[in-house]
Amino acid sequence: MTILGIETSCDETALALLEARGTGEAFECRVIASLVHSQADLHSAYGGVFPTLAKREHSKNLVPLLRKLLTQAEMLSASAEASSVAEIASFKKYAESARPFVSPQNPELFGSVAAAEFLAHKPRIDAIAVTEGPGLEPALWVGITFARMLGELWNVPIIPINHMEGHIVGSLLPSDAANGAWQKLFPLPLPALAFLISGGHTQLVRVNTIGHYDILGETKDDAVGEAFDKVARLLGLPYPGGPYIAEYAERARTEGIMSPVKLPRPMITSGTLEFSFSGLKTAVLYATRTAPRDANGAIDPTWKKGLALEFETAVTETLSAKLRAALDETGAGALIVGGGVSANHTLRSAFTSIAQEYGIPAYMPSRHISGDNALMIAVAAALRGNTNSGSDSTTSGSLRAQGTKRLG
Ligand code: KG4
Ligand code: ZN
Repeated sequence: MTILGIETSCDETALALLEARGTGEAFECRVIASLVHSQADLHSAYGGVFPTLAKREHSKNLVPLLRKLLTQAEMLSASAEASSVAEIASFKKYAESARPFVSPQNPELFGSVAAAEFLAHKPRIDAIAVTEGPGLEPALWVGITFARMLGELWNVPIIPINHMEGHIVGSLLPSDAANGAWQKLFPLPLPALAFLISGGHTQLVRVNTIGHYDILGETKDDAVGEAFDKVARLLGLPYPGGPYIAEYAERARTEGIMSPVKLPRPMITSGTLEFSFSGLKTAVLYATRTAPRDANGAIDPTWKKGLALEFETAVTETLSAKLRAALDETGAGALIVGGGVSANHTLRSAFTSIAQEYGIPAYMPSRHISGDNALMIAVAAALRGNTNSGSDSTTSGSLRAQGTKRLG
């Protein structure tokens, strides 16, 4: 089956096409196309994601991105572009019927869909997977509404997907390359442990099987990515700050710069699997008050590099200690790391060494899917069909149905 994935939970508008076949051991999939349109530059001016702006941008971007996706997938053939007269007529009729439900809340999305005549011709798609949460409510609704409109128009089912489950299964995909090659997911000895580290979450999750999860510990305040972003802001670095902190820390390492201060390792000896990053951020705030500055008030670059290194080290040591404790507690047979912060090289190598120590494989997302993307959403939907862990296309499936704690 071919699945169209839609992800709009935060500031990335993402679409993907995935083909899946087989069940159980024979399950395999191939990436037909995957596109991510980042709004980060726009939100940068606000120092974080601005929900109303995210909503408007998703509404503007989805239709052009879908056209690009279908073109790349060679699903927008010349004949499809010149959809038949009957198809166009029924498309126009559908748009009129959807107007009262879509246009008042989201005129931009409605206008953009109603004007996109290429949608009149149904592409070879069997299901639409869409992120239903967690995320920014106004942003999520754009994706959900778009999915519903396409679902009604093309008469295909909608599969709502939990964003965090997407980050788990995305890391099981060996390659995100859209080269059409069939691939099996990494083998998953159970239970496995998933470490989800993103701008919105910091969670240790026991994966009992795909679709059945227990949250073992999470952050009591800021998420780890949020801490990276806030610290970057305190240092006068752009949003999203994670990659900049990582770059500054790396420069400190290569230039042999020492840290100007010692930061706390929050909750490292708490004996729980919970996290807290707001104290670490506050410690950085206090440190910046005595930082050397130039005549314009900008923090001295050498000091910044040293601080970035100390912050990254404090985070790495804290996450590593919690990871070890969770591996001890679960006896997990594999480690899965997911979420945008998993792009961090220092964390990746620390986690890889820990997994080696425990003699288990460590699965991390391939390069283009460490941040938010729709490929992981499509993979989650394909697996849902595969494991029969909740093929209900109107609820959030297994996460809700199993009565286990919901991710997110
Ligand atoms: O998963 P994601 O794309 O969006 C959410 O669902 O939150 O994660 C985004 C987060 C941001 O906080 C960003 O600063 C962080 O991932 N991030 C990094 C790195 N690259 C992205 N944090 C640390 N080091 C990186 N290299
Ligand atoms: Zn995410």
